Amino acid sequence: MKNSLTILGLESSCDDTAAAIVRHRPGQSAEILASVVYGQTDLHAGYGGVVPEIAARAHAEKLDLAVEQALSEADLGLADLDGVAVTAGPGLIGGVLAGVMCAKGIAAGAGLPLVGVNHLAGHALTPRLTDDIAFPYLMLLVSGGHCQFLMVSGSDTYKRLGATIDDAPGEAFDKAARLLGLPQPGGPSVEAEAAKGDPTRFVFPRPLLNRPGCDMSFSGLKTALLRQRDKMVAANGGLTATDRADLCAGFQAAVVDVFAEKSTRALEAYLALKPEAPVFAVAGGVAANRKVRAALETVSRHQGVQFLAPPTALCTDNAAMIAWAGIERFRAGDSDDHSLAARPRWPLDRKSAPILGSGKKGAKA
Ligand code: KG4
Ligand code: ZN
Repeated sequence: MKNSLTILGLESSCDDTAAAIVRHRPGQSAEILASVVYGQTDLHAGYGGVVPEIAARAHAEKLDLAVEQALSEADLGLADLDGVAVTAGPGLIGGVLAGVMCAKGIAAGAGLPLVGVNHLAGHALTPRLTDDIAFPYLMLLVSGGHCQFLMVSGSDTYKRLGATIDDAPGEAFDKAARLLGLPQPGGPSVEAEAAKGDPTRFVFPRPLLNRPGCDMSFSGLKTALLRQRDKMVAANGGLTATDRADLCAGFQAAVVDVFAEKSTRALEAYLALKPEAPVFAVAGGVAANRKVRAALETVSRHQGVQFLAPPTALCTDNAAMIAWAGIERFRAGDSDDHSLAARPRWPLDRKSAPILGSGKKGAKA
């Protein structure tokens, strides 16, 4: 591998078709030369969630266009690239396959090395792309499908300190939006409603706060919201705009409180192991939430720890993080051949016992 690496990244594991080009020279900060994201929100709008088959077909249609646009924005040709990195899992298998096949085609056609990267590693390594930080650090990875505290000690060395035992918070935000008739993805719509509401009118449960450790649970919160909604609909025949805003504010406040308390505990556990590296970073779609970011920042300040949150566009799914995770793998001397397979499940911490769904397909987290 050359000293300077210019890598094309591809992402298609959920409902964003993304291509990006990232350049890195050792000793310098990485440069995002282009980052293209085609969302699929409109395609899934009528279904209340992401439909895997529709997502896969849309990825297959849009991936090459996203690559062309990224190359054009970066003013580069395929000959200027040093390699191709692609999300090889975890995610919706049809979409991951579309990305892996596209990456293999480009790598074979242009004679470039190929590397498959873990989507979660893409999120977890983003603070190194944006802020050039050293290992180790504590990461809270919060997305639509995942929620875990990870001690990140290397580009392929993760220790899970805690995680959700049921729903991911992004999923909970999405379900909350559905219950209240708000558009998907639910996170941004619930946050916008919550900004107009009173977070003290409805007090929702803060699950697992009484239990030691930093595992979390979000499914009871969604049920509490459902019950409260049904109670009000039965009593008043529907919800007013104020009701909806107050419900969103109460729901968001409960999520934020859980994060604040569990992050405090995760930081204590992490600092006991790595007192020399007081850094806490957050990534994943839910990290775009301003109240969540503010709470984590406060917790970090109280513990005298540096807090890092990537810009919103690099918190939600994107391909710059995949190109960067590929750069980390190439620098470590790794690459894949054309037998690279798409994996629906792929936990980052392979040593800890699975916390979720250790079924036929393997551990989810
Ligand atoms: O990381 P991401 O883009 O995709 C996954 O890998 O899951 O995360 C998407 C999730 C969705 O559930 C979405 O509702 C949530 O992140 N999200 C938010 C916000 N923006 C996106 N949740 C809360 N507040 C937000 N502002
Ligand atoms: Zn993601």
